[in-house]
Amino acid sequence: MSSARHTTTNAGIPVASDDHSLTAGPNGPVLLQDHYLIEKNAQFNRERVPERVVHAKGGGAFGFFEVTDDVSQYTKAAVFQPGTKTETLIRFSSVAGELGSPDTWRDPRGTAIKFYTTEGNYDLVGNNTPVFFIRDAIKFPDFIRSQKRRADNHLRDHDMQWDFWTQCPESAHQVTWLMGDRGIPKTWRNMNLYGSHTYLWVNGAGEKFWIKYHFKTDQGHAFLTQAEADQLAGGDADHHIRDLWTTIKNGEHPSWTLYVQVMPFEEAADYRFNPFDLTKVWPHGDYPLIKVGKFVLNRNPENYFAQIEQAAFEPSNMVPGIGASPDKMLQGRLFSYPDAHRYRIGTNYMDLPVNRPIAPVNSYAKDGQMRFSLGQDPVYAPNSYGGPRADASDGTDEAATGIEQEVIRSAYRLHSEDDDFGQPGTMVRNVFSDEERARFVNNVAGHLSGGVSKPVLDKALDYWRSVDKATGDKIADKVRG
Ligand code: HEM
Repeated sequence: MSSARHTTTNAGIPVASDDHSLTAGPNGPVLLQDHYLIEKNAQFNRERVPERVVHAKGGGAFGFFEVTDDVSQYTKAAVFQPGTKTETLIRFSSVAGELGSPDTWRDPRGTAIKFYTTEGNYDLVGNNTPVFFIRDAIKFPDFIRSQKRRADNHLRDHDMQWDFWTQCPESAHQVTWLMGDRGIPKTWRNMNLYGSHTYLWVNGAGEKFWIKYHFKTDQGHAFLTQAEADQLAGGDADHHIRDLWTTIKNGEHPSWTLYVQVMPFEEAADYRFNPFDLTKVWPHGDYPLIKVGKFVLNRNPENYFAQIEQAAFEPSNMVPGIGASPDKMLQGRLFSYPDAHRYRIGTNYMDLPVNRPIAPVNSYAKDGQMRFSLGQDPVYAPNSYGGPRADASDGTDEAATGIEQEVIRSAYRLHSEDDDFGQPGTMVRNVFSDEERARFVNNVAGHLSGGVSKPVLDKALDYWRSVDKATGDKIADKVRG
């Protein structure tokens, strides 16, 4: 923008008016020549990126993390070495609502933290609860759909929420949290933040530990009753965003104290329950909290869209000394987030200032839409021209795959009555009445008469004869009629 603060086009060219389009005479039609008018409206049409498929509503702030206690015996990660101070970004969110949903709906709160460390970005993408509804990533899309909106009337639906939960009893722990006071925090400042999953830490000597993160609020816990939350949902749908923004603007700096629970690597195999199961907490009696440092928020974003909406957090961003555990949820999440960012923000989302690491980037990634970091030759590896080389000396990602079994894809081991046709055969023969069976034959035959090709029809008739020979023959007679 010019120093006189004249409006310009996006190319920096001064514009003549922000009030009047260029027209042929005062009442005449608008001229295509008014490229500023076109730029302004075309840009407006493209202002939105897709909202996050979950955790769409949120807000955030910048701050720092400072290590106060020595945990170097458990991890070599630079961010957790004594005295280290690291710039951070946090984005708080609710889960099921959309971009404009009320902040005070009952829901877990997302707590995504980015540490801009000297070894690259470390993202800890957690919630305000230490557990979760499910324990396998394959259920996640179903779970989220049950929490969002129906297909027919586009309404949220308690029936489908409870339908899912009651069919997935592993959700009980998290639902108990959700239905208790912590289901609606008074502010984002008044809640704990958890890494939730079990993660791996590796120290400088290569020793391995399983750990869980707990950020305890220094503001104390506070919650809203359902009635208060309902009132705020109408009166100030942005209650949580507003609270954080005004608190920091007024010079108050909310903080959390980070503790970890540490489990010696070998204890996981025989611990009394699966320590990687995300629906469980580790009792503090078994694994007490060990203090690590202070997490402080002290700076509001200057531009919500650029710094919060376009912020990209991904559990796969782990630095040397920090690794994944075999938790099936975490493993699924390692894929999902970068995939979502490429779709939601674009291929080169890591080039954006809020996502760019302070550590040097020596990646061979090249080109793609909206690339503006300048890649250099050589553009391939291996090469003979002094390009960056991978370094296997860290070893964190090989330290604990947790794989103790041969990896296979297999159907269930067969039991003696596992054949596919036994039970439907019994149903057709012994459960159906004569009338039911007749309707059944008509239904199947009618369906098969609707444009099914000959090879598929033959297979279908074989299929029904396998279920019950007499019924299959009747269907065939009807179809060929
Ligand atoms: C956001 C997937 C479980 C915390 C997201 C997003 C996806 C996703 C696709 C949107 C990312 C974006 O567009 O920027 C999944 C899958 C899960 C899972 C597949 C299970 C397998 C969890 C769990 C937690 C969690 C267990 C917490 C412990 C979050 C948070 C965000 C988020 C905090 C918002 C990040 C932000 O503020 O940008 N998740 N999620 N998710 N998820 Fe998950």
